[in-house]
Amino acid sequence: MFLEQKYNCKKLLMRDEPLLDINIEGWIKTKRSSKNVIFIELSDGSCQPNLQIVVSNETKLSEPLEAFSTGTSILVNGSLVESEGANQKWEVLAKSISVLGYCDNDYPLQKKRHSDEFLRGIAHLRGRTNKYAALTRIRSQLSFSIHNYFHQKNFVQIHTPIITSSDCEGAGEMFNVEHLLGEENFFGRPAHLTVSGQLPLETYCLSHSRVYTFGPAFRAENSNTARHVSEFWMVEPEIAFADLSDDMDLAEDFIKQVAKETLEMCPEEMTLFKKYVDKHLEKRLEMLNSKFHRCTYSDCIDLLKNSNKNFEFKPEWGKDLQTEHEKFITDDHFKGPVFITDWPKDIKPFYMRLNDDEKTVSCMDLIMPRVGELIGGSAREERSDLLKIRLGDVEKAMNDYWWYLETRKYGTVKHAGFGMGFERLIMLLTGITNIRDVIAYPRTPHSLEF
Ligand code: 4AD
Ligand code: MG
Repeated sequence: MFLEQKYNCKKLLMRDEPLLDINIEGWIKTKRSSKNVIFIELSDGSCQPNLQIVVSNETKLSEPLEAFSTGTSILVNGSLVESEGANQKWEVLAKSISVLGYCDNDYPLQKKRHSDEFLRGIAHLRGRTNKYAALTRIRSQLSFSIHNYFHQKNFVQIHTPIITSSDCEGAGEMFNVEHLLGEENFFGRPAHLTVSGQLPLETYCLSHSRVYTFGPAFRAENSNTARHVSEFWMVEPEIAFADLSDDMDLAEDFIKQVAKETLEMCPEEMTLFKKYVDKHLEKRLEMLNSKFHRCTYSDCIDLLKNSNKNFEFKPEWGKDLQTEHEKFITDDHFKGPVFITDWPKDIKPFYMRLNDDEKTVSCMDLIMPRVGELIGGSAREERSDLLKIRLGDVEKAMNDYWWYLETRKYGTVKHAGFGMGFERLIMLLTGITNIRDVIAYPRTPHSLEF
């Protein structure tokens, strides 16, 4: 079978024993000559280090040496032997090398460092650079660790729909899905791309108790910041018989565990980020070892007002917090991650549970130094009468949310959940500061090249 028969760089480099007569395929990263031999650095993307191929006078080459340029794909036959060099344990003594695919000499990824802006313009090739190859493997590991975390904690994964009729966040930031069947609207009513899987997820929380969804979310929001994309991936757990404090306990444990596993599984990739992307990354990631702070929105407003800082936007109870406010709270005041809880109900969505003060809702935003908001979550309003009031227009509510309201009629229970932006967690772990650089094909306003 393909997988057993083939070697890849990772499998070879992890070996304890040498190996005779192997075939290995990949792309040439660099080539350099030294006395009587030529060294080719080969990569197949399976791991961070390249595999060193030693070309000697005895190696049979399918073409003149010039054809083996950076970017060329090749097949190497040879033996894995202990390397004489100090930089690697293994190398391959090549018996023969043949070209699989030539690389034109206008190949843009020559051996030098390229700017992030330049690489965004060649998103179809940037996975071949060391940095994006590492990023891509970290992204894959983190995704796996997230599923692993929930699996171990007995959560059931729900595939919530991508096409939807309801606006979960009520912010009107939905992309339309338009298709006609003859003269008729395909679905018989307006359809949109989901902004969050939460509402359908809640209905399954009320049958399976611990559930999660992990899928794409879409926001037609015209914000051109380094933290927003129009299409991102969101992890959303939902727990029954639970309140906001349980929700925060889950969020904190979740972040700590998935980060720990990913960092442990990707040491070579992390070395690259610590060296080339953020020199203070190691120190910064220490914040994940300490207890996350918890502070109410009202107390945050007081902290901001008493800070004597000259904010561009004056902090005021009832208004959303701005980036400069968040930054003060995480970086200056608490010096670490903070759950800001119990926000004014008027600036939060309808599904959040009303507190006894009737002014605030039982919710939290987890804000992180540098990354800002990583998680948004809440206790859900499980009381039918109060939920209807929050929905406002009763007729419209019954039309759009009748199914959601029924879950409050048939055995309602307290429940809570949150959503975490997958890309924002990757930014936190790698030190990459622009969200466009942690997703293969970023979608933002006025940009859909690939
Ligand atoms: O705070 P948000 O809007 O919350 C929800 O959608 C809830 N329904 C989630 C839930 O309770 N199940 O989004 C959750 C998180 C944010 O904290 C942020 O990390 C990320 O999703 N996010 C974005 N990430 C990248 N680009 C965007 N445009 C994002 N909008 C939200
Ligand atoms: Mg939010």
